[in-house]
Amino acid sequence: MIDYKLVQQEYHVPMGAVYANTSSCGLVAKTGVKSMHQFMLELHESGSLSADQFLAEDLPRIRKKIAGFVDAQKNELALIPNFSFGLNAAIPVLRPFRKVLLLEHDYPSLTQPFVLNDFEITWISSDDGFSFDLDKIEQAIQQQDIRIVAVSQVQYLSGHCLDIEALGKICRRHNAILLVDGTQSLGAIPFSFAQSDVDIFISSNYKWMNGGFGTGIMMMKTDFIQEHEPRIGGFASFLNKNGTWKYAPSIQSYEPGHLNMGGFLVLEQALDFKLKLGLENIYAQNKALLDILVAGLKTNDIAIKGPYSNENRTGILCLSETLELTKSLDAHQIVYKARNGSIRLGLHFHNTREDVEVILQAILKAVPEG
Ligand SMILES: Cc1ncc(COP(=O)(O)O)c(C=O)c1O
Repeated sequence: MIDYKLVQQEYHVPMGAVYANTSSCGLVAKTGVKSMHQFMLELHESGSLSADQFLAEDLPRIRKKIAGFVDAQKNELALIPNFSFGLNAAIPVLRPFRKVLLLEHDYPSLTQPFVLNDFEITWISSDDGFSFDLDKIEQAIQQQDIRIVAVSQVQYLSGHCLDIEALGKICRRHNAILLVDGTQSLGAIPFSFAQSDVDIFISSNYKWMNGGFGTGIMMMKTDFIQEHEPRIGGFASFLNKNGTWKYAPSIQSYEPGHLNMGGFLVLEQALDFKLKLGLENIYAQNKALLDILVAGLKTNDIAIKGPYSNENRTGILCLSETLELTKSLDAHQIVYKARNGSIRLGLHFHNTREDVEVILQAILKAVPEG
């Protein structure tokens, strides 16, 4: 169960409005705003002293918290500015594998680096416009001798959630590297990097992590880092040993420059809050809300992308865009995303059953009476 009193203390949505757009950008907690503000004030007043304090005290604490949150070892975790940086930084070590499997219509930040770097790409299409058949993926891996499988855990255009556990097993069977984009899932779906067969996991934190802009995380399994030496480096890749800087290849090679210090302080508050609510609770609540929404739409024969079920979904639901629908959603002060003829709704822990009722009413009002 979500403790909504706690949520209300931290997250403010104006009376009457419904924020259903976490899939575009997550809300930021009040304590996150305060933490960023405090850090900026300290930078204003004492410059390097506050930056030094961040590096010496805050950063090790935050790194430990994030590693705990995703169940990764600290030496498997890099703090990065966003998903795109992480993937582009990893491309030089992935290039020798050449053959990659991608999903059609997956997010461009995930697919374009492979296109631009002349990988041999096998595109997998969805047969029903929503889900991806794991048997078809396995067959392609076998037949095309695929070496890298790179997928978003949750598809940004449909909300379809892949079974990463099953996909990981397929990749292990065929000795393929599994790279997962967690931008539409991390913070909404419990995830253990240690327990997974994912080799590389990269995510921006501004959506379901509620971390604001300018931070991301990347994890690589220890074996992978050791076998595939990073080809990127800079200030933060060096270790200071007894006053001298020494470069040694490690996961920290992937965090070459100075970090977005204020951004990681915001993320820390978001993590603390999620741990207070419980990630399992968040996952269950988002699914329950989606279930009510899907059932309401089914009862009224309103078509949605994918089947009338909350299976293989987390907090995202898409339906066809019409002028009446956008007008009605706007009139009900619902924040959503309209793109390429589709309306995308993204429900997270701050949403309530009442929110879902408002969304349903808005949708029903937009349907012409038959
Ligand atoms: C699946 C997925 N990956 C990545 C991103 C964003 O990546 P970046 O922060 O690098 O622009 C998005 C944004 O919508 C996304 O949906």
